[in-house]
Amino acid sequence: MIRLERLTKLYGATAVVDDVSLEVAEGALLAIVGGSGSGKSTLLRMVNRLVEPSGGRVFLAGEDTAAIEPHLLRRRIGYVLQNHGLFPHRTVAENVATTPRLLGWDKARIAARVDELLALFGLDPAIYGRRRPHELSGGEQQRVGVARALAAEPRVLLMDEPFGALDPVVRAKAQADLAAVRRRLGVTVMLVTHDMEEAARLGDVIAVLERGRLLQSDAPAEIIGRPATPFVSGLVSDAERPFRLLALRPVTAVLEPGTTEGPPIAADADLRQALAALIWSGRSAAPVAGPDGAELGVVRLARLLEAGADDAA
Ligand SMILES: Nc1ncnc2c1ncn2[C@@H]1O[C@H](COP(=O)(O)OP(=O)(O)OP(=O)(O)O)[C@@H](O)[C@H]1O
Ligand SMILES: [Mg+2]
Repeated sequence: MIRLERLTKLYGATAVVDDVSLEVAEGALLAIVGGSGSGKSTLLRMVNRLVEPSGGRVFLAGEDTAAIEPHLLRRRIGYVLQNHGLFPHRTVAENVATTPRLLGWDKARIAARVDELLALFGLDPAIYGRRRPHELSGGEQQRVGVARALAAEPRVLLMDEPFGALDPVVRAKAQADLAAVRRRLGVTVMLVTHDMEEAARLGDVIAVLERGRLLQSDAPAEIIGRPATPFVSGLVSDAERPFRLLALRPVTAVLEPGTTEGPPIAADADLRQALAALIWSGRSAAPVAGPDGAELGVVRLARLLEAGADDAA
């Protein structure tokens, strides 16, 4: 669990982070959104003490980080920079091994961990381990950056716009990778993003910063459905709002018993995707199928529209 208590950073007379208090539950992902210069990176960097706070405290699992040597603290916290920050002259395997080496893990354990992580991110260790960062695509570099941050099994992962530079397809893959890794490793994440859609997809909680101040921190459905200020409201257009809310719920939430004709909708689709599929195929109902192809029930357009109206209520 991460707790920020009245965290403040002053540069001269300006508070670029201004009295921010927040909690991130064990294993949860906090998405931090806000405009350029709103203090997102500074907030993140105070958690691993790359920036020293001017006021306030940070607790990791109840331990005050002010009492931990900064370089030791940083070995315990994974940190993914926007531009991946890989060491250009080291191989992929050496990059991923950075923190385990500093911690003095033995060679066999390091090698096993590197292979495990590269495989987890879809990079064949035999092929990619020996390459240097410039021999990778941007998306591959980004995945190595995340793998490196996770190498020493940190309980906490800080990610500063990790997917910002990726094209939409690679970005979706990287987001899915992160979700899978979180399920598997149970790491607690603070992730900075400019993209509200990404924040809503990945975040258990979204924190909105403006000029260093925390405007609202809440579950995505609250941020989108009940914005606390005009600034928060402006993060999603009114025309998009109902669709963003539908996207937060799985199609299984409106599953009805029965069967119907036509191509199925996957059980891991969200309500927005189900609505799009029905509109696109001109149907008023579709079967829903699990990963093995077995039909689980039916989704009906009328029920979907009711769900959208419930969100708006
Ligand atoms: N070392 C520094 N000295 C003085 N001012 C700084 C310093 N570092 C950051 N700032 C200022 O603090 C403010 C917040 O910066 P920060 O990098 O946290 O913003 P951000 O929300 O991450 O922005 P972006 O989305 O553009 O990355 C900015 O106005 C920036 O100019
Ligand atoms: Mg930043």
